[in-house]
Amino acid sequence: MYAQMVKTDANKVRDLSEMTEEERAFQARIDRGEKIEPTDWMPEGYRKTLIRQIGQHAHSEIVGQLPEGNWITRAPTLERKAILLAKVQDEAGHGLYLYCAAETLGVSRDELIELLHAGKMKYSSIFNYPTLTWADIGAVGWLVDGAAIMNQVPLQRTSFGPYSRAMIRICKEESFHQRQGYDIMMKMANGTAEQRRMAQDALDRLWYPSLMMFGPSDKDSVHSAQSMAWKIKINTNDELRQKFVDQTVSQAEYLGLTIPDENLSWNDEKGGYDFSEPDWSEFFEVLSGNGPCNRERMEARVKAWEEGSWVRDALMAHANKKEAAKTAAE
Ligand SMILES: [Fe+2]
Ligand SMILES: [Fe+2]
Repeated sequence: MYAQMVKTDANKVRDLSEMTEEERAFQARIDRGEKIEPTDWMPEGYRKTLIRQIGQHAHSEIVGQLPEGNWITRAPTLERKAILLAKVQDEAGHGLYLYCAAETLGVSRDELIELLHAGKMKYSSIFNYPTLTWADIGAVGWLVDGAAIMNQVPLQRTSFGPYSRAMIRICKEESFHQRQGYDIMMKMANGTAEQRRMAQDALDRLWYPSLMMFGPSDKDSVHSAQSMAWKIKINTNDELRQKFVDQTVSQAEYLGLTIPDENLSWNDEKGGYDFSEPDWSEFFEVLSGNGPCNRERMEARVKAWEEGSWVRDALMAHANKKEAAKTAAE
């Protein structure tokens, strides 16, 4: 039912015969594996899709700092605190590279942030779930950064130059994030009975939200086909979700934890696991603003933006003063 609701013409790939000369030449460049740079001609749809995708990605990095930032003051040791601080700082950096990549397409960071705060742009639904215990910080690194890597590694080959270059740098840092998360899980899973229980509980709560990170099933995905023709998207949602499950099952086994899915079983024929789909009605509820932490996340972002306005004003005043001094000296 909802498939009919969300399917639009955006899912149709434009046929070569419908394209203008310019569009055909553009598609040929993409098909040859050339990178598209900001000053090159591009179809309006390509530019818009990229702004939406890169913007959404940047917002996810920034909002994604909140659930983990929540634990910086409560990290169990100085070392864990330093590691978590570095990780959360990395996410801020990822957001900044991505806002810069989006800016090359003619949209400013301020405009993107305004759209986010007005609820007109999304960020990953996973960050609307709470981090209730220290084990959640382990599970977030292991599963959420793990899923992010699965999504982002292929994007290093995306057709838009600035996006693909940002991804190369981001992926290097993401693999550190995933390992630090798994390291926390190892400690917890091999710790006291209570720590093991916390680790299992974190996996139980974050498993399906992590599977949702790949987006709706291919048959219901709105933007897939055209984005794949433009190489803005390299793999389908279902392909990436399958890869993630296949990689994660043995990692859970090594921890001695149980993935909360009775239908999980190896399928020899497809060479991968069969698994239960997440509850997609929950996904759409969270996406539409009704997740456990949506309001809290947006309030925190808006507050940070408002309280930081004096810094932006001071930087602008300083830049203007410098510019004026330079002009006067000329
Ligand atoms: Fe990141
Ligand atoms: Fe990360």
